[in-house]
Amino acid sequence: MEETAVPAAGGPAALRGLAGQTTQLLQPVPLTSIEASKAARTETRITELDRVLGDGLVPGSTVLLAGDPGIGKSTLLLQAAAGVATASPNSPVVYATGEESTEQLKLRAERLGISQERLLVVPTGDVVALGVLADEAKPALIVVDSSQTAWHSGVDGPPGSLGQLRQCASALGDIARRSGVPVVLTGHVTKEGTVAGPKVLEHVVDVVLQLEGSAGTSIRLLRGSKNRYGATDELGVFEMTQIGLRDVAEPSAMFLAERQPGASGSSVATVIEGTRPITVEVQALVTPTPASTPRRTANGYDLGRLHLLIAVITKRLNLPLGSSDVVLNVAGGLQLTEPAADLAVALAIVSSYLDAPVLDGLSASGEVGLGGELRAVQQAARRVSEAGRLGFEKCLVPAGCGDLGDAESGAVRCRTLGEAVAAAIPFPNAEDANPR
Ligand code: TYD
Ligand code: MG
Repeated sequence: MEETAVPAAGGPAALRGLAGQTTQLLQPVPLTSIEASKAARTETRITELDRVLGDGLVPGSTVLLAGDPGIGKSTLLLQAAAGVATASPNSPVVYATGEESTEQLKLRAERLGISQERLLVVPTGDVVALGVLADEAKPALIVVDSSQTAWHSGVDGPPGSLGQLRQCASALGDIARRSGVPVVLTGHVTKEGTVAGPKVLEHVVDVVLQLEGSAGTSIRLLRGSKNRYGATDELGVFEMTQIGLRDVAEPSAMFLAERQPGASGSSVATVIEGTRPITVEVQALVTPTPASTPRRTANGYDLGRLHLLIAVITKRLNLPLGSSDVVLNVAGGLQLTEPAADLAVALAIVSSYLDAPVLDGLSASGEVGLGGELRAVQQAARRVSEAGRLGFEKCLVPAGCGDLGDAESGAVRCRTLGEAVAAAIPFPNAEDANPR
């Protein structure tokens, strides 16, 4: 037990004395008198990165790019650094590589076809020295790769330790604010997913971006999980190629690429990611379970939500899924968080259970309620149009969606999941699937 002295509650005079000793007395200013500088953002010239940032880098901001080792963080940042250098003809860009040697960086640059004179490389993670460099060289951007190798001479402990990470991030934040130079740093996500590095950094930086991708595929997805200057629901889509990351302007094509029309257990969802409608294949595999408790796994979709849909299908469509394993997979490593994906997931499950394919040329968008009813989704017209543009003649939408304008001809309005199943999955015993 340790005794702690509690300061006596003083009157106004005592408080004034205390405040005067420690800080200057506050001088509030009217909000209306504060001028917000709308300095132009720096574009990285990488469309998908700029999209997720919200039209480029804000002067004086700090950005953390987090992701698994080997996912492509250094590649993306080298490409972005070259883009910024090209876009700002009067200032250099500083790439501080504490993790890799300058030779390694050079090899990567050659592979990416980057040869940019104003791209300056320093083989260090010394944050204090970077601060001096920022003031003197006035760069358009500083990249610190990585936060785990950044170190601050004022702090004990090896690079990557908690104290170092925290101090480096806040020092880099100070440098950015003081000099107006945007700073981007990378951080590894540890295998446990608890992100030892990035988690403590998240609070200190202004923007946190996550670069993700499933093993064995070349698709890389970039998402903001925090952004003080913009939305976090934008999705950036890249493909990792032999010559670096390539913007994917038409992600839908990629998320549908390996679809086999006519196969049961496959459906197409039209979801809205940020400002873009995207269509993506959803696959389900429903098989009789040998175990007493059926197994349910979801890849790219919330498991709790999958359980809910299975319960709705069992009860409202009278399909006994209680003795079936259900495996769900969303193509391309995409994580479907929008409730509007429900309908496509339910259709994939029913299609696999009945072993009857969903009609060709059909996509779906709708939230499924506990009563088996379909609930209206936002921006239904855009979803229907986008699906139509990609060759899906019809899109199932909830009956309650508002006016669809020109898109009406491409929509099939359904009140319930049962109606949607009847419209989407031609099956001899379709009557069995009527809602109860
Ligand atoms: P890297 O950017 O080093 O990942 P991180 O910095 O996140 O650890 O990317 C490494 C991987 O990317 C490596 O497996 C090789 C691959 N790669 C390509 O496929 N094409 C390329 O042009 C480059 C530069 C890397
Ligand atoms: Mg790297």
